[in-house]
Amino acid sequence: MENIIKDIDIISPDEAQACDFKTTEEENTGKSKKLYIESYGCQMNFSDSEIVASIMKENGFDTTSDFEQADVIFLNTCSIREKAEQTVRNRLNQFNTVKKNKPELTIGVLGCMAERLKEKLLEEEKIVDVVVGPDAYRDLPNLVASAEEGNKGVNTFLSREETYADISPVRLNSNGVTAFISIMRGCDNMCSFCVVPFTRGRERSRDPYSIVNEAKELFEKGYKEVTLLGQNVDSYKWSPEENNKARLNKKEDEVSTLVNFAKLLEMVALVDPALRIRFSTSHPKDITDEVLYTMKKYDNICKYIHLPVQSGNSRVLELMNRTYDRDWYLDRVRAIREILGEECGISSDMIAGFCTETEEEHQDTLTLMDIVKYDFSYMFYYSERPGTLAAKKYTDDIPLEVKKRRLAEIIEKQNSLSLERNKLDIGKIQEILIEGTSKRSEAQLKGRNSANKVVIIDNDGQLKKGDYVQVKIYDCSPATLFGEVVS
Ligand code: SAH
Ligand code: SF4
Ligand code: F3S
Repeated sequence: MENIIKDIDIISPDEAQACDFKTTEEENTGKSKKLYIESYGCQMNFSDSEIVASIMKENGFDTTSDFEQADVIFLNTCSIREKAEQTVRNRLNQFNTVKKNKPELTIGVLGCMAERLKEKLLEEEKIVDVVVGPDAYRDLPNLVASAEEGNKGVNTFLSREETYADISPVRLNSNGVTAFISIMRGCDNMCSFCVVPFTRGRERSRDPYSIVNEAKELFEKGYKEVTLLGQNVDSYKWSPEENNKARLNKKEDEVSTLVNFAKLLEMVALVDPALRIRFSTSHPKDITDEVLYTMKKYDNICKYIHLPVQSGNSRVLELMNRTYDRDWYLDRVRAIREILGEECGISSDMIAGFCTETEEEHQDTLTLMDIVKYDFSYMFYYSERPGTLAAKKYTDDIPLEVKKRRLAEIIEKQNSLSLERNKLDIGKIQEILIEGTSKRSEAQLKGRNSANKVVIIDNDGQLKKGDYVQVKIYDCSPATLFGEVVS
């Protein structure tokens, strides 16, 4: 019982706004220099850091987990909310003393903040030597070499083509079981609150064969799960014309029809039945029944959909330029339940206190949550981002304390829904993929079921990460299931 109580994660509004970061791990292949990367923001950024590490590795750098050992420090940054940017600025201040003791150290800001602020970052943050946006990572070795000679540099060129398809990512922070694969870059959606279209540029899809090959290589190395990443995976699109352009050595039997997301999912699912497939993020306006039927057809496509709603009120959704309304969203949820059943996990992102949101409209978010019964949500209060449509057109008029109170209500609602949903799993037998030992105790193992829920089991000494195992769920908290092995 004790560990169950410890596992209850009540997220406070401030924690929900907090920005986690991941660092590189030690890798020593005898290269002359050391690179330390700290990654903030979304999975896309973590995935990009693996591309950056690969590019730098080709140019004489091993990774390190200790920034004091590093010749180059990169912060791969996020601009999604003001707080995310503030966290990076504070971190840069902390690196001031490191640089004082080691003037030859090169410090780079990469990612979305680099793209948003460009040259301004060099003016505002004196310790920064290079500023490089998400489409310019191939230029990093040149920019770092110039910085080592005392010339600061900026490259924030946004491309219509770059997908880094040919770069084999160095797997950072890897448990050796699960990995990310970027299938597209950028976003064409222009949600009014969102900075991503400005920091990541136009949407483009990656060659499906390079995606399938990456999945195959991962499986051959022992990985058991891949997550296909894009800001809006449902608009993935690869046409035969592009295929012809990009692949001069195309074989006759290769794609002659358009590859949409459903088709891509199928291609990756066919790599091996023992390779699990996940994906993120689905957009309510674009998710098709064809995708849902493909998920149903293949056991190895996990039954879990991250389907951010943002708000439960149609007027607010219109202001947000999400291009769907409450009814459309609920119809998509109905289709998920009809095709994939009650057990399919559904999660969401919510924004509390968007411009002009009334108390009644906020209540609509809470009632929608009750109808959908989300398993999990990422919850935020609105943070105005310079340059976005909302910043230009609307006034950020909801007082901070009101935003925080509404967010707290959303979080409280989600906690009780998560518990309610998890309780439905008690008594069921589910397959989990073991990812490693539990954070809390070596005597326990942590895995995930198809619906993306963390399941804790006892470590019997026989099971190891990468194993699939059948477990019977006997207890739960809002954040975790507890199971015992039945096979
Ligand atoms: N492409 C994804 C979202 C990526 S950003 C989608 O469309 O669902 C991740 C989440 O951050 C968003 O879903 C939204 O909930 C939140 N977010 C984005 N901009 C924000 C802002 N200005 N203030 C608060 N939260 C924001
Ligand atoms: Fe931002 Fe909307 Fe694109 Fe998501 S779909 S990244 S919220 S603009
Ligand atoms: Fe942040 Fe950029 Fe991702 S703004 S959420 S790191 S796409």
